[in-house]
Amino acid sequence: MAVKIEVDLSPADYQARAATGFGNAVCVVFDILRATSVMVTGLANGAAGFVPAAEIPEALALRSQHRNALLAGERNGLRITAAQSGGVEFDLGNSPREYTRDQVAGRIIISTTTNGTRALRAGVTAQSVAVASFLNLNATADWLAQQPTAQVILVCAGTAEFPALEDILGAGALCELLVRKLAKIQLLDSAETARRVYCEARLDLFGVISRSQNGRRLMANVELRDDVEFCLQRDSCNLVALLGADGVIRRSG
Ligand code: MLT
Repeated sequence: MAVKIEVDLSPADYQARAATGFGNAVCVVFDILRATSVMVTGLANGAAGFVPAAEIPEALALRSQHRNALLAGERNGLRITAAQSGGVEFDLGNSPREYTRDQVAGRIIISTTTNGTRALRAGVTAQSVAVASFLNLNATADWLAQQPTAQVILVCAGTAEFPALEDILGAGALCELLVRKLAKIQLLDSAETARRVYCEARLDLFGVISRSQNGRRLMANVELRDDVEFCLQRDSCNLVALLGADGVIRRSG
């Protein structure tokens, strides 16, 4: 039987699906700029795991379950300050370049971001949830090709309530890989759309993404502009990141 691939292109799509449940589907979440790129980078640099929290108070409350955890994430793209959290300076922002081995090795990281952690939380009812980015695309495709599932849903985290081009490009790049790796595959219209958008942009991904809404936002900030190129390093991390039943995202295997 062919594996059906669908893409939730915007937050409205994954919120609607979360309301009815993801059933037996395998779900893969993309927030290329930057939440899922951050998680993959942190795990590659030895972080013990990431705990996605939807809101700042939830992130603070989760510290009682994960003692000695780092608090991380962003609002408006920047590290969460004491003024925003009611008195606690977060340890890390949402730049993947902050997640060095020195900072994160062996640590649990509780993270709340605007859309990325929200998309991850929406997918929790799926049979399994993988965290993907351009950094671990091939490893994620290889893992997916081994899953005994009839349905794969690629979730694009988006920006606020709207689609984000870079997430659709990441999902489209994964569709393009899966077409080559799976013997029987059916791309539903949303997946075929993402794949075609990716194929059109693939030769100038940096140019296209740096002109996207999120790309422009990051490129306009001298401290964050290098994140765009960093998040496009294709297959720099040979790892699969999976959300466990305990709510922690860990490196698999
Ligand atoms: C998000 O979760 O919306 C993003 O990762 C935002 C960002 O990194 O600035």
